[in-house]
Amino acid sequence: MAIKAHKVGIVGLGTVGSGVAKILLEEGERVRRHAGQPIELSRVVVRDLEKPRQCELPDKILTTDISEITNDPEISVVAQLIGGLEPARSIMLQLLESGKDVVTANKALLAEHGTELFNRARELGRSIAFEASVAGGVPIIANLSQCLSANQILSLRGILNGTSNFIVSQMEEHGADYSQAVAEAQRLGYAEADPTMDVDGTDAAQKLAILAHLAFGADVQWPDIPRIGIDGLDSTDLRWASELGYRVKLLAVARLNEDNLELHVSPTLVKLGTPLSEVRGANNAISVVGDMVGRVFYHGLGAGQLPTASAVVADLIDTTVGRSAITFRTLDLWSEATSKVLQTNHSSISGRYYMRFTVEDHPGVLADVSGSLGRNEISIASIIQREIDDDNVQGDDVSLVIMTHAATEGNAAAAVREIDALPSVRAGSVRMRVLD
Ligand code: NAP
Ligand code: HSE
Repeated sequence: MAIKAHKVGIVGLGTVGSGVAKILLEEGERVRRHAGQPIELSRVVVRDLEKPRQCELPDKILTTDISEITNDPEISVVAQLIGGLEPARSIMLQLLESGKDVVTANKALLAEHGTELFNRARELGRSIAFEASVAGGVPIIANLSQCLSANQILSLRGILNGTSNFIVSQMEEHGADYSQAVAEAQRLGYAEADPTMDVDGTDAAQKLAILAHLAFGADVQWPDIPRIGIDGLDSTDLRWASELGYRVKLLAVARLNEDNLELHVSPTLVKLGTPLSEVRGANNAISVVGDMVGRVFYHGLGAGQLPTASAVVADLIDTTVGRSAITFRTLDLWSEATSKVLQTNHSSISGRYYMRFTVEDHPGVLADVSGSLGRNEISIASIIQREIDDDNVQGDDVSLVIMTHAATEGNAAAAVREIDALPSVRAGSVRMRVLD
């Protein structure tokens, strides 16, 4: 007797949607083995039937009419792979209300409307699976929600935006121009429809908010996460970082300090030779510390068609076999329950800093700069000023590069504000965190 196929649908056939269709259509036997029954791609909803697609689909499954999914009782699971907030939110609600379980890769949607969507899914007895929403092909959601559940997570440090890591790697390794590197990330399908979200730290903050919900039970809104992107990064600082024994990474950090949670996203000097410093190209990585397991490191492609589709298809399989429903019910994510931790006041966060000032080469300038640092309780660990400066500074100006001992964010920000106001200091001071 033939085993009945499980019918699924896709909404949105861009980079990720095409990858999901390819895997379902070309790797049907592998999928069947894991799902215990065949999974049949039954309908794919697009906006434009004529647009060229990156995959070959069987006849007649492409449609512009979402009701061909919502009105089909045989389709029980849908991969919703439209980016942005609308119409993604309305379509997600429509799918849930028509009785479908949903799989999504859309972190912006979850970070912005998670409470509404998860509550609605709970009311309707449906599930939402979202492995692909953070770190693409790296299975961090399943690991945090299931495999590490015996632990209190103590910290989580991640390179969560593949586009930013790709751009910085291109600049560092090939001396690529910033705009060309952005264009290449778009061409390769890594970037969001609006790549500003990638390079200004928004995408990483949205993913960090999702991980903070999972790992710490934090009710955190992504706009409340202090964030700096790579859009202001100067290749001069990539060179200095390398000379000092570091590599610059856009790092997303969630760290438990007693009963509050430190959260931020910023370009950070990461010590060469540590696993995070070796993460190149569109790869992502997350270093997690749990109180039982110790440190665990996850690494892999965080963006791109097939790595992301790999996570979506795994969620489709988990949903058809019923695993997603169990996880969704037990995790109680984005529920109205009170947050288990509060966010740390950003100015009290402590760490080492890299600072670069462009100053006039006059007597007393160094004393002024170190005086400001001292008044703000910042101790200098090392200082470099070169007789011959190759930072393309103007005329008699020179670069002053300082590594500090641990200082609070509030003191570091105040010192740089004070130093920037000195008459001998040119605009454009740089300050980045350091992770040893
Ligand atoms: P994309 O290439 O821009 O594809 C989005 C698709 O959605 C497009 O094909 C678009 O149609 C379609 N769409 C938009 N509105 C629609 C509507 N009303 N009805 C039907 N289709 C509609 O984006 P993507 O890279 O695949 O990303 C999809 C989601 O996955 C995003 O939330 C993104 O953040 C997330 N994600 C992406 C990656 C990655 O590496 N790309 C990795 C992880 C997560 P048209 O083709 O007509 O424009
Ligand atoms: N634009 C995202 C990135 C896709 O570059 O990481 C994966 O979420």
